Amino acid sequence: MVLIAPSILSADFAHLEDEIKALEKAGADMIHLDVMDGHFVPNLTFGATIVKAVRKCTKLPLDVHLMVENPENMIEWFKNAGADILTVHAEATTHLDGILEKIKSCGIKAGVALNPSTDEDVLKYVLDKTDLIMVMTVNPGFGGQTFIDTCLDKIARIKKMIKGRKILIEVDGGINPMTAEESIGAGADILVAGTAIFKGGNYKKNIESLR
Ligand code: DX5
Ligand code: ZN
Repeated sequence: MVLIAPSILSADFAHLEDEIKALEKAGADMIHLDVMDGHFVPNLTFGATIVKAVRKCTKLPLDVHLMVENPENMIEWFKNAGADILTVHAEATTHLDGILEKIKSCGIKAGVALNPSTDEDVLKYVLDKTDLIMVMTVNPGFGGQTFIDTCLDKIARIKKMIKGRKILIEVDGGINPMTAEESIGAGADILVAGTAIFKGGNYKKNIESLR
């Protein structure tokens, strides 16, 4: 069954602990945390301090999505904050191989994210060091955007590319019940969703409608 990773970008930050507990009760499989630096993406969110605070609220895996330039300098901060999966953008580093090794040497799972315009070929030589591939289906930076359909073929191509390897494919951006179904059909293992889960306040029903 597909795993659901609610993005707290759409949560009420004034009641973050309650939100995390409610997501846990609603059946979330992990918590997705969007770290943005205002350079790699035109938006700012939070850093390791908030990740550490969320760590105290839940035992669910923390899926940390780094939308930052030069992520190599920050790996230890997020490891110490309690991240279980740390995903960096292929476009944000010159040394993708090195940074994946660094993440794995910290004992946590290493992910690579690709913007909608990035060719999946960049993954070719790092597959054996990758635990998760995040296909961005919107241009990163904001919640509530429309799913970019051309990414569906990319998901299917990546699924073929990884062959028998134990690499999870995660899809992030514009996920709703319809795009969830299409993404699962193309080969997605994890769906990230913000808007679709927080909308209307019935997190359980919203999560179930994505599965
Ligand atoms: C976008 C973030 C996403 C975002 C998804 O840059 O990486 O995780 O929260 O939000 P929705 O589900 O609203 O598209
Ligand atoms: Zn994200």
